Amino acid sequence: MDAIRTEALTKVYRSNFARRGIPSLDSLSLAIGENEVFGFLGRNGAGKTTAIKLLCSLLRPTAGTAYLFGEPARSREARKRIGYLPENPYFYEYLNPRETLDFYGKLQGLSAAARAAEWKKLAELLDLGSIAGQRIRGFSKGMRQRLGFAVALVGDPDILILDEPMSGLDPIGRRHIRELILRMRDEKKTLFFSSHVLGDVEQICDRVGVLVQGKLKAHGPIADLLTDHISHVEIVAAGLTPAAVKEIATQARHVRQSEQGEHFEAGDLEAANEVAGRVLAHNGKLVEFTPLKDSLENYFLRQQEEAYA
Ligand SMILES: Nc1ncnc2c1ncn2[C@@H]1O[C@H](COP(=O)(O)OP(=O)(O)OP(=O)(O)O)[C@@H](O)[C@H]1O
Ligand SMILES: [Mg+2]
Repeated sequence: MDAIRTEALTKVYRSNFARRGIPSLDSLSLAIGENEVFGFLGRNGAGKTTAIKLLCSLLRPTAGTAYLFGEPARSREARKRIGYLPENPYFYEYLNPRETLDFYGKLQGLSAAARAAEWKKLAELLDLGSIAGQRIRGFSKGMRQRLGFAVALVGDPDILILDEPMSGLDPIGRRHIRELILRMRDEKKTLFFSSHVLGDVEQICDRVGVLVQGKLKAHGPIADLLTDHISHVEIVAAGLTPAAVKEIATQARHVRQSEQGEHFEAGDLEAANEVAGRVLAHNGKLVEFTPLKDSLENYFLRQQEEAYA
Protein backbone atom coordinates (compact mmCIF):
# COMPACT_ATOMS: atom_id res chain seq x y z
CA MET A 1 0.00 0.00 0.00
CA ASP A 2 1.17 3.54 -0.69
CA ALA A 3 2.27 5.46 2.37
CA ILE A 4 1.19 8.72 0.76
CA ARG A 5 -1.18 9.19 -2.13
CA THR A 6 -2.70 12.38 -3.45
CA GLU A 7 -5.39 12.62 -6.08
CA ALA A 8 -5.62 15.92 -7.93
CA LEU A 9 -4.89 17.75 -4.70
CA THR A 10 -5.59 21.43 -5.25
CA LYS A 11 -5.48 24.55 -3.12
CA VAL A 12 -6.70 27.99 -3.99
CA TYR A 13 -6.20 30.42 -1.12
CA ARG A 14 -9.24 32.56 -0.69
CA SER A 15 -7.21 35.42 0.72
CA ASN A 16 -4.86 35.43 -2.23
CA PHE A 17 -6.10 38.57 -3.97
CA ALA A 18 -3.04 39.10 -6.11
CA ARG A 19 -3.41 35.70 -7.75
CA ARG A 20 -7.14 35.30 -7.31
CA GLY A 21 -8.39 32.01 -8.59
CA ILE A 22 -4.94 30.72 -9.46
CA PRO A 23 -4.22 27.54 -7.53
CA SER A 24 -1.16 27.59 -5.27
CA LEU A 25 -1.22 23.82 -5.67
CA ASP A 26 -2.69 22.54 -8.89
CA SER A 27 -3.95 18.95 -9.20
CA LEU A 28 -1.08 17.22 -7.46
CA SER A 29 -1.28 13.46 -8.00
CA LEU A 30 1.49 11.46 -6.40
CA ALA A 31 2.01 8.04 -4.88
CA ILE A 32 4.84 7.42 -2.46
CA GLY A 33 5.61 3.91 -1.33
CA GLU A 34 6.36 2.74 2.17
CA ASN A 35 9.93 3.35 3.28
CA GLU A 36 10.60 5.67 0.37
CA VAL A 37 12.55 8.93 0.67
CA PHE A 38 10.86 11.51 -1.53
CA GLY A 39 12.34 14.96 -2.16
CA PHE A 40 10.13 17.83 -3.17
CA LEU A 41 11.84 20.59 -5.11
CA GLY A 42 10.63 23.98 -6.14
CA ARG A 43 11.60 27.58 -5.82
CA ASN A 44 10.05 30.10 -3.47
CA GLY A 45 6.30 30.17 -3.83
CA ALA A 46 6.12 26.98 -5.90
CA GLY A 47 3.63 25.46 -3.46
CA LYS A 48 5.78 23.06 -1.42
CA THR A 49 4.60 24.23 1.97
CA THR A 50 1.02 24.30 0.74
CA ALA A 51 1.29 20.65 -0.34
CA ILE A 52 2.91 19.68 2.95
CA LYS A 53 0.24 21.44 5.01
CA LEU A 54 -2.45 19.64 3.04
CA LEU A 55 -0.79 16.30 3.79
CA CYS A 56 -0.69 17.20 7.45
CA SER A 57 -4.32 18.41 7.37
CA LEU A 58 -3.33 21.86 8.50
CA LEU A 59 -5.13 23.18 5.44
CA ARG A 60 -8.31 22.10 3.74
CA PRO A 61 -7.95 21.25 0.05
CA THR A 62 -10.05 23.21 -2.43
CA ALA A 63 -10.35 19.99 -4.43
CA GLY A 64 -8.85 16.55 -4.46
CA THR A 65 -7.86 14.22 -1.64
CA ALA A 66 -4.78 13.06 0.21
CA TYR A 67 -4.46 9.60 1.72
CA LEU A 68 -1.96 8.26 4.21
CA PHE A 69 -1.79 4.48 4.27
CA GLY A 70 -5.13 4.42 2.50
CA GLU A 71 -6.92 6.58 5.06
CA PRO A 72 -8.01 10.14 4.29
CA ALA A 73 -5.28 12.47 5.54
CA ARG A 74 -7.69 14.28 7.82
CA SER A 75 -8.79 11.13 9.62
CA ARG A 76 -7.54 10.46 13.13
CA GLU A 77 -5.87 7.22 12.12
CA ALA A 78 -3.86 8.98 9.43
CA ARG A 79 -2.87 11.92 11.59
CA LYS A 80 -1.54 9.65 14.31
CA ARG A 81 0.96 8.19 11.88
CA ILE A 82 2.70 11.38 10.77
CA GLY A 83 5.45 13.45 12.30
CA TYR A 84 5.80 17.00 10.95
CA LEU A 85 8.69 19.43 10.98
CA PRO A 86 7.37 22.86 9.96
CA GLU A 87 9.33 25.32 7.87
CA ASN A 88 9.81 27.54 10.93
CA PRO A 89 9.20 25.40 13.98
CA TYR A 90 7.40 27.26 16.73
CA PHE A 91 8.19 26.55 20.35
CA TYR A 92 7.15 27.77 23.75
CA GLU A 93 10.26 29.78 24.38
CA TYR A 94 10.21 29.50 28.16
CA LEU A 95 10.23 25.71 28.09
CA ASN A 96 13.37 23.64 27.75
CA PRO A 97 13.80 20.72 25.30
CA ARG A 98 12.92 18.08 27.84
CA GLU A 99 9.69 19.86 28.80
CA THR A 100 8.90 20.48 25.15
CA LEU A 101 9.10 16.80 24.21
CA ASP A 102 7.16 15.91 27.34
CA PHE A 103 4.44 18.34 26.29
CA TYR A 104 4.12 16.78 22.84
CA GLY A 105 4.19 13.29 24.37
CA LYS A 106 1.27 14.25 26.60
CA LEU A 107 -0.64 15.61 23.60
CA GLN A 108 -0.29 12.18 22.08
CA GLY A 109 -1.51 10.51 25.24
CA LEU A 110 1.78 8.82 26.14
CA SER A 111 2.20 7.62 29.73
CA ALA A 112 4.85 9.16 31.99
CA ALA A 113 7.01 6.07 31.53
CA ALA A 114 6.62 6.18 27.76
CA ARG A 115 7.50 9.87 27.74
CA ALA A 116 10.63 9.26 29.77
CA ALA A 117 11.67 6.49 27.38
CA GLU A 118 10.93 8.74 24.43
CA TRP A 119 13.08 11.52 25.89
CA LYS A 120 15.99 9.14 26.46
CA LYS A 121 15.84 7.88 22.89
CA LEU A 122 15.38 11.25 21.18
CA ALA A 123 17.85 13.13 23.36
CA GLU A 124 20.50 10.67 22.32
CA LEU A 125 19.49 10.58 18.66
CA LEU A 126 19.45 14.37 18.32
CA ASP A 127 22.18 15.12 20.81
CA LEU A 128 19.94 17.18 23.08
CA GLY A 129 21.48 16.00 26.36
CA SER A 130 23.69 19.03 26.93
CA ILE A 131 20.83 21.50 26.32
CA ALA A 132 18.10 19.47 28.03
CA GLY A 133 17.48 22.06 30.75
CA GLN A 134 18.09 25.27 28.82
CA ARG A 135 15.25 27.56 27.85
CA ILE A 136 14.60 27.54 24.12
CA ARG A 137 14.63 31.34 24.07
CA GLY A 138 18.37 31.53 23.51
CA PHE A 139 18.63 28.70 20.98
CA SER A 140 20.39 28.98 17.64
CA LYS A 141 18.79 27.93 14.35
CA GLY A 142 20.65 24.63 14.41
CA MET A 143 19.50 23.78 17.93
CA ARG A 144 15.92 24.69 17.05
CA GLN A 145 16.01 22.51 13.98
CA ARG A 146 17.29 19.55 16.00
CA LEU A 147 14.59 20.07 18.58
CA GLY A 148 11.98 20.40 15.83
CA PHE A 149 13.15 17.11 14.38
CA ALA A 150 12.84 15.51 17.82
CA VAL A 151 9.29 16.84 18.17
CA ALA A 152 8.42 15.34 14.77
CA LEU A 153 9.67 11.97 16.02
CA VAL A 154 7.64 11.91 19.24
CA GLY A 155 5.35 8.90 19.22
CA ASP A 156 7.43 7.05 16.60
CA PRO A 157 5.42 8.04 13.49
CA ASP A 158 5.60 5.98 10.29
CA ILE A 159 5.67 8.98 7.97
CA LEU A 160 7.92 11.98 8.45
CA ILE A 161 7.00 15.16 6.63
CA LEU A 162 9.76 17.73 6.77
CA ASP A 163 9.46 21.22 5.32
CA GLU A 164 12.94 22.46 4.38
CA PRO A 165 14.71 20.54 7.13
CA MET A 166 18.14 21.72 6.03
CA SER A 167 17.49 25.37 5.32
CA GLY A 168 19.46 27.86 7.35
CA LEU A 169 21.91 25.26 8.61
CA ASP A 170 25.66 25.24 8.17
CA PRO A 171 27.29 22.30 6.33
CA ILE A 172 27.71 20.27 9.49
CA GLY A 173 24.13 20.87 10.53
CA ARG A 174 22.96 19.88 7.05
CA ARG A 175 24.98 16.69 7.13
CA HIS A 176 23.53 15.88 10.52
CA ILE A 177 19.97 16.21 9.20
CA ARG A 178 20.88 14.20 6.11
CA GLU A 179 22.21 11.41 8.29
CA LEU A 180 19.07 11.52 10.39
CA ILE A 181 16.91 11.17 7.30
CA LEU A 182 18.88 8.13 6.18
CA ARG A 183 18.71 6.69 9.65
CA MET A 184 14.93 7.07 9.65
CA ARG A 185 14.83 5.31 6.33
CA ASP A 186 16.74 2.44 7.91
CA GLU A 187 14.04 2.38 10.57
CA LYS A 188 11.54 1.77 7.78
CA LYS A 189 9.90 5.14 7.92
CA THR A 190 8.58 6.99 4.88
CA LEU A 191 10.10 10.41 4.35
CA PHE A 192 8.71 13.31 2.41
CA PHE A 193 10.68 16.52 2.51
CA SER A 194 11.07 19.76 0.62
CA SER A 195 14.38 21.42 0.01
CA HIS A 196 16.33 24.00 -1.89
CA VAL A 197 19.55 22.23 -1.09
CA LEU A 198 19.68 20.28 -4.27
CA GLY A 199 22.88 18.44 -3.53
CA ASP A 200 21.31 16.98 -0.43
CA VAL A 201 18.26 15.85 -2.32
CA GLU A 202 20.44 14.23 -4.94
CA GLN A 203 22.31 12.30 -2.28
CA ILE A 204 19.51 10.93 -0.18
CA CYS A 205 16.28 10.66 -2.18
CA ASP A 206 14.90 7.63 -3.95
CA ARG A 207 12.66 9.87 -6.01
CA VAL A 208 12.14 13.57 -6.48
CA GLY A 209 9.32 15.76 -7.69
CA VAL A 210 9.77 19.21 -9.18
CA LEU A 211 7.01 21.69 -8.47
CA VAL A 212 6.73 24.79 -10.63
CA GLN A 213 4.01 27.35 -9.95
CA GLY A 214 1.88 24.79 -8.17
CA LYS A 215 2.19 22.12 -10.84
CA LEU A 216 4.23 18.94 -10.67
CA LYS A 217 6.50 19.32 -13.68
CA ALA A 218 8.55 16.17 -13.31
CA HIS A 219 8.91 13.30 -10.93
CA GLY A 220 10.67 10.00 -10.74
CA PRO A 221 13.89 8.33 -9.67
CA ILE A 222 16.72 10.80 -9.97
CA ALA A 223 18.64 8.52 -12.33
CA ASP A 224 15.65 8.28 -14.69
CA LEU A 225 15.03 11.99 -14.74
CA LEU A 226 18.62 12.52 -15.71
CA THR A 227 18.72 9.81 -18.38
CA ASP A 228 16.12 11.80 -20.23
CA HIS A 229 18.27 14.82 -19.85
CA ILE A 230 21.62 14.33 -21.42
CA SER A 231 23.14 17.78 -21.39
CA HIS A 232 25.52 17.06 -24.27
CA VAL A 233 27.69 14.36 -25.83
CA GLU A 234 31.44 14.58 -26.10
CA ILE A 235 32.97 12.95 -29.15
CA VAL A 236 36.66 12.49 -29.81
CA ALA A 237 37.73 11.42 -33.27
CA ALA A 238 41.18 10.72 -34.73
CA GLY A 239 42.54 10.62 -38.28
CA LEU A 240 40.39 13.41 -39.73
CA THR A 241 41.61 15.79 -42.42
CA PRO A 242 41.21 19.53 -41.73
CA ALA A 243 38.49 19.61 -44.37
CA ALA A 244 36.61 16.80 -42.60
CA VAL A 245 36.91 18.62 -39.27
CA LYS A 246 35.53 21.75 -40.87
CA GLU A 247 32.63 19.89 -42.36
CA ILE A 248 31.76 18.06 -39.12
CA ALA A 249 32.00 21.34 -37.22
CA THR A 250 28.86 22.48 -39.01
CA GLN A 251 27.05 19.69 -37.14
CA ALA A 252 28.68 19.86 -33.71
CA ARG A 253 30.79 22.36 -31.85
CA HIS A 254 34.50 21.77 -32.39
CA VAL A 255 35.90 22.26 -28.92
CA ARG A 256 39.61 21.60 -29.22
CA GLN A 257 42.35 19.40 -30.48
CA SER A 258 44.42 17.06 -28.28
CA GLU A 259 46.81 14.16 -28.63
CA GLN A 260 43.77 11.91 -28.78
CA GLY A 261 42.27 13.75 -31.71
CA GLU A 262 39.55 16.29 -32.41
CA HIS A 263 37.03 17.01 -29.64
CA PHE A 264 33.45 17.75 -30.62
CA GLU A 265 30.41 18.50 -28.54
CA ALA A 266 26.93 17.58 -29.79
CA GLY A 267 23.74 18.87 -28.20
CA ASP A 268 21.93 15.56 -28.00
CA LEU A 269 22.26 11.86 -28.78
CA GLU A 270 20.77 12.14 -32.23
CA ALA A 271 23.18 14.85 -33.31
CA ALA A 272 26.03 12.90 -31.74
CA ASN A 273 25.19 9.81 -33.74
CA GLU A 274 25.09 11.89 -36.87
CA VAL A 275 28.57 13.20 -36.06
CA ALA A 276 29.84 9.69 -35.39
CA GLY A 277 28.53 8.61 -38.81
CA ARG A 278 30.35 11.45 -40.52
CA VAL A 279 33.58 10.68 -38.70
CA LEU A 280 33.44 7.12 -40.03
CA ALA A 281 32.42 8.31 -43.50
CA HIS A 282 35.56 10.47 -43.57
CA ASN A 283 37.63 7.39 -42.64
CA GLY A 284 38.22 8.80 -39.19
CA LYS A 285 38.25 6.74 -36.01
CA LEU A 286 35.97 7.22 -33.01
CA VAL A 287 38.11 7.43 -29.88
CA GLU A 288 35.46 8.51 -27.39
CA PHE A 289 31.71 8.87 -27.33
CA THR A 290 30.53 10.15 -23.95
CA PRO A 291 26.97 11.25 -23.15
CA LEU A 292 27.11 13.64 -20.18
CA LYS A 293 24.16 13.79 -17.87
CA ASP A 294 22.90 16.83 -16.08
CA SER A 295 23.48 17.28 -12.41
CA LEU A 296 20.17 17.48 -10.62
CA GLU A 297 20.89 21.12 -10.01
CA ASN A 298 21.15 21.89 -13.72
CA TYR A 299 18.13 19.78 -14.49
CA PHE A 300 16.11 21.56 -11.87
CA LEU A 301 17.21 25.00 -12.98
CA ARG A 302 16.32 24.17 -16.56
CA GLN A 303 12.85 23.03 -15.50
CA GLN A 304 12.38 26.35 -13.81
CA GLU A 305 13.71 28.35 -16.72
CA GLU A 306 11.43 26.60 -19.18
CA ALA A 307 8.42 27.25 -17.01
CA TYR A 308 9.19 30.89 -16.37
CA ALA A 309 10.43 31.68 -19.86
N1 LIG B 1 -2.07 31.70 3.69
C1 LIG B 1 -1.92 32.07 2.43
N2 LIG B 1 -2.81 32.92 1.86
C2 LIG B 1 -2.68 33.30 0.56
N3 LIG B 1 -1.72 32.86 -0.26
C3 LIG B 1 -0.82 32.02 0.23
C4 LIG B 1 -0.87 31.57 1.60
N4 LIG B 1 0.16 30.72 1.80
C5 LIG B 1 0.82 30.63 0.64
N5 LIG B 1 0.24 31.40 -0.31
C6 LIG B 1 0.67 31.53 -1.71
O1 LIG B 1 0.71 30.23 -2.30
C7 LIG B 1 1.84 30.09 -3.14
C8 LIG B 1 2.68 28.90 -2.68
O2 LIG B 1 3.23 29.16 -1.42
P1 LIG B 1 4.02 28.07 -0.58
O3 LIG B 1 4.32 28.67 0.74
O4 LIG B 1 3.28 26.80 -0.61
O5 LIG B 1 5.34 27.93 -1.45
P2 LIG B 1 6.72 27.21 -1.10
O6 LIG B 1 7.07 26.39 -2.28
O7 LIG B 1 6.66 26.55 0.21
O8 LIG B 1 7.72 28.47 -1.04
P3 LIG B 1 9.05 28.68 -0.13
O9 LIG B 1 10.16 28.00 -0.86
O10 LIG B 1 9.23 30.18 -0.15
O11 LIG B 1 8.81 28.14 1.23
C9 LIG B 1 2.56 31.42 -3.10
O12 LIG B 1 2.18 32.16 -4.21
C10 LIG B 1 2.07 32.06 -1.82
O13 LIG B 1 2.07 33.45 -1.94
MG1 LIG C 1 7.70 26.78 1.92
